Amino acid sequence: METRHFLTLSDLNTGELGVILARASELKKERKQGVQNDSLRGKTLAQIFEKSSTRTRVSFEAGMTQLGGNSMFLSPRDTQLGRGEPIEDTARVISRMVDVVVIRTDAHEKLETFAQHSCVPVINALTDLFHPCQLLADVLTYQEHRGDIKGKHIAWVGDGNNVCHSWMKAATLLDFQLHIATPESHKPDKAIASVCKDHIEWTSDPNAAVRNADVVVTDTWASMGQEQEKQERETIFKDYQVNQVLMSKAKTDALFMHCLPAYRGSEVTAEVIDGPQSVVWDEAENRLHSQKALLEFLLT
Ligand code: CP
Ligand code: NVA
Repeated sequence: METRHFLTLSDLNTGELGVILARASELKKERKQGVQNDSLRGKTLAQIFEKSSTRTRVSFEAGMTQLGGNSMFLSPRDTQLGRGEPIEDTARVISRMVDVVVIRTDAHEKLETFAQHSCVPVINALTDLFHPCQLLADVLTYQEHRGDIKGKHIAWVGDGNNVCHSWMKAATLLDFQLHIATPESHKPDKAIASVCKDHIEWTSDPNAAVRNADVVVTDTWASMGQEQEKQERETIFKDYQVNQVLMSKAKTDALFMHCLPAYRGSEVTAEVIDGPQSVVWDEAENRLHSQKALLEFLLT
């Protein structure tokens, strides 16, 4: 059987995504009820992180433990990867020893190279191009609060970045409309936009994107690796802040989402992220439940 990877949301079809989300809800319920689940007993996860992480790392590690498995964290500083051992060789070696590998890196091609040489499933824990695990949690969160996301109007405001690209893929798989507002200079990737064209609409005007929206989503203006541009980006994106005035243009019961970490006073005001429309803590918690379901899907 061919090894299944999860490098982008397109590695799943709509039905499979539905199965994973339904299982995530079940696992969440079971955890609240204190039900013990050993579905991944004896399995080992290796986590390779070339960038910082709080949510992704903790949720994968806790998730493996909760399902009876083990996980190890590998920083490039401590492995031979950091001293120049080729990705291909690292993939061949690690994948002969563990059952699944989670990778957070910069270039998406590095992740693809690893997956090509891995004999076990590889999961994308964020690259410069995509963050598919985030979308499992975000869609689950929407469903919990509002039901089916099909046909809904989601507004993305800010940078056309990795998380935005995964929202674009989700729109295509789950048949909702993503209205994207970014500065002309920071539009999403053209190739991804062309694949998702039937489910996305771009504008440079945040007010137009959020008008009548069911959800308003944003993310940091300076992603990991763009720290030197932080100052310049504050200027470029200053009209794209999600504040109460912008939120008031969306539906009255619109949700506010953010993958976190958030920078209050930049891409979002404290009033919005800490206010009644915000579901960011549910999104963060749902990383755990949805990734446990993903691990089970890939491993059992
Ligand atoms: N949202 C997210 O991926 O958070 P971390 O960078 O903390 O993992
Ligand atoms: N776009 C952000 C997401 C962090 C979870 C980044 O890549 O840094």
